[in-house]
Amino acid sequence: MTVEETYLKMKQKLSRLIPDDEIRYKAEIAAEINQLKKERNAVILGHNYMEPALYYSIPDFVGDSLALSRKAAETDKEVIVFCGVKFMAETAKILSPHKTVLLPAKEAGCSLAASITAEDVLGLKEQFPGIPVVTYVNTYAAVKAVSDICCTSSNAVKVVASLDTEAVIFIPDEYLAKNVARETGKRIIFPDDTHPSGAALDHPIIGWHGKCEVHDQFTVDDILNVRKQFPDVLVLAHPECRPEVVEASDFSGSTTAMIRHVENTKAPRYLLLTECSMGDNIIAANPSKDILRMCSIRCPHMKEITLEDTLGALVNMQYEIIVPEDIRIKAARSVQRMIEIG
Ligand code: 13P
Ligand code: SF4
Repeated sequence: MTVEETYLKMKQKLSRLIPDDEIRYKAEIAAEINQLKKERNAVILGHNYMEPALYYSIPDFVGDSLALSRKAAETDKEVIVFCGVKFMAETAKILSPHKTVLLPAKEAGCSLAASITAEDVLGLKEQFPGIPVVTYVNTYAAVKAVSDICCTSSNAVKVVASLDTEAVIFIPDEYLAKNVARETGKRIIFPDDTHPSGAALDHPIIGWHGKCEVHDQFTVDDILNVRKQFPDVLVLAHPECRPEVVEASDFSGSTTAMIRHVENTKAPRYLLLTECSMGDNIIAANPSKDILRMCSIRCPHMKEITLEDTLGALVNMQYEIIVPEDIRIKAARSVQRMIEIG
């Protein structure tokens, strides 16, 4: 596709969101990336939180963590460029060890992934022997390697139900664990609560105090204030939000589930409680829908991934994700087990 064709394609989606000069500038970079992508036999995976100009120009596939894990496992390309954060690129490497996996920014972290180490998980296993460990994909490979199974926000309840055990350790997102506990009718405790330890506990979900620094910021007052102004608003919250926020919302689901819900319903307006760029992407695809979002709340780690850096990634083949093979093999078991469940 020429620069002009790329520009016209981007303009169609982005003209209401981005000034024309910026679309032209970004189309030039996008066209160069798409050309280089072919030369390098690469696939570009883009998370739903990518900024609109990137989201609508270079990814071969966009989606939530689960969908992108599946695409990473299926691709026949030699290079995977992951436009998302580091734990997502690591998951791609875990599933495709013979491919070169590139993350366009050196450090695109995640407060949840940073909240727990493999040593922490081993400590939990010692404190609660025999209880399976369900680990949110927002963690690093070493943590996945000492877990029994992974989950994402779109299959967490299904994964917990699949284990067919009374108790589970669910790490590291405190709010996701509480939201899963509410949905499955289980009780939740934390390792630092005062209680006797051991497998005989009457508390089926054992959580951890990790939090998403983005979703932690939404409050019930935010919802009430918007509802006061727009009583007909439909509120969607990501399951990493506080349980009281999820409860005060009308719908909760993974990033892709939120997108589909907006597409498949006919509310007068929507409030999205998640990273703001995703709201922009939804507006671009649904120009007739009234989408409210709080753009003071952004993920600083996702924002590290830019078109300029993605071009740099393909030019210099950087930053390559490396996972030691012994850790990768163990982590792959937990991720594959999740993918088999769906
Ligand atoms: P999804 O799996 O819903 O895409 O969420 C990933 C994430 O990091 C949300 O903050
Ligand atoms: Fe991590 Fe939250 Fe950013 Fe998602 S939005 S990548 S959970 S810090």
